[in-house]
Amino acid sequence: MTTDTPPDEPHEEIEIKRRQVAKILAAISGAGAVSAFSVSAIAGLSESGKIEEPEPLFVEGVRLVDAEGTPLRAADAIPPNENLEPITVYPEQEGGGAITEDRAAVLLVRFPEGSYQEPTNLDGTVDGYAAYSKVCTHLGCAVNGTEGNQLYCQCHGSQFDPLQGAEVTSGPATSPLPQLPIGVADDDGQLLLATGPFEGPVGPQ
Ligand code: FES
Repeated sequence: MTTDTPPDEPHEEIEIKRRQVAKILAAISGAGAVSAFSVSAIAGLSESGKIEEPEPLFVEGVRLVDAEGTPLRAADAIPPNENLEPITVYPEQEGGGAITEDRAAVLLVRFPEGSYQEPTNLDGTVDGYAAYSKVCTHLGCAVNGTEGNQLYCQCHGSQFDPLQGAEVTSGPATSPLPQLPIGVADDDGQLLLATGPFEGPVGPQ
């Protein structure tokens, strides 16, 4: 007689793994298109049966670039402004260019210095700039809109306050957009760069 169950792997454990896979696939399908992140996550699951975190795209020193791969200078990436005018930026890849996969997209905002309040990580802001993941924590749409000075997700209407750590001010999302701590390169024309990875998980929570 044959069986699908390896002798050293009880049914209960296999069932738990199946549930983990189903949960991840559900989150991915809710997020829309299957991105490179989704593919790598599935690959990690199929090989080991465990949920594996993908490598962080932002680490200390990775420069922020636009979609064409042009590095951004603190002086003029966004003009100083009282109003919310976010731009989408990405991590620079080794050798130049932008990594434009979904989970890498970041909303860069700028307000007058001193505007930010907790729970914003103030040490992760620079020259009035703050940066947050663009991936909505509800079901993973791109947060593409604004509503007054709130970041607005057009899929189901969630709003996030960029002056207070991108906390949720209107649901259905329940978790803030994770902040990306940023600084400037002193010896490199004041180019904007990450000073670490995102401060929380990216995507649906
Ligand atoms: Fe539902 Fe953003 S994906 S509010």
